Amino acid sequence: MTKKIGILVSGRGSNLQAIIDRIKDGYLPLEISVVISDMPGAFALERARQSGLKAVAVDRKAYANRASFETGLNEALGDVDGVVLAGFMRILSGEFIERWHHRIINIHPALLPSFPGMHGQRQANDYGTKVAGCTVHFVDAGTDTGPIIIQKVVPAYFEDDEDTLAARILEQEHAALPEALKLWAEDKLTIIGRKVKIGG
Ligand code: GRF
Repeated sequence: MTKKIGILVSGRGSNLQAIIDRIKDGYLPLEISVVISDMPGAFALERARQSGLKAVAVDRKAYANRASFETGLNEALGDVDGVVLAGFMRILSGEFIERWHHRIINIHPALLPSFPGMHGQRQANDYGTKVAGCTVHFVDAGTDTGPIIIQKVVPAYFEDDEDTLAARILEQEHAALPEALKLWAEDKLTIIGRKVKIGG
């Protein structure tokens, strides 16, 4: 049966668009039940609406605390099979992550475990690494520490700045996220300790 996902976004939503496009072209056997943003003005919500998807703002500022905000997220998610963080800029609580144990997938714009947290691309550029990339992983209680599904590598050049490097990484994000989600959708991922086994 086709799995249903909820996608959490905060900004422009290019990764969301990549998922939408790969579902439309038949590559990705998933159904998007809802797109949720903590930022009511996020362009990602507009993209969702343009594709005829349910788009919901769960405005963090309208909630007194994280617990009630996350209750709002859970209500909006309903009975989805999994949650995708596609440029979602908030840290989720241990309770929320436990509620969706091993059913939350995140895209991070760095080669984890290097450069977790905010601005992975800037961190890599400042550090002067010769390669950079992105990581799709299951979410656990830490920040960007969960079991890794897929990583994609790009070259990093002396001449790069944060923006040129981020653009090169973003192109790979748009390939990596649908690829990882396809494996998940087709039940080809098994988490064994820290490692993810990929296979039929
Ligand atoms: C991406 O670089 C993603 O890895 C990071 O935030 C950015 C979101 O971009 N977490 P978009 O909203 O998908 O265009």
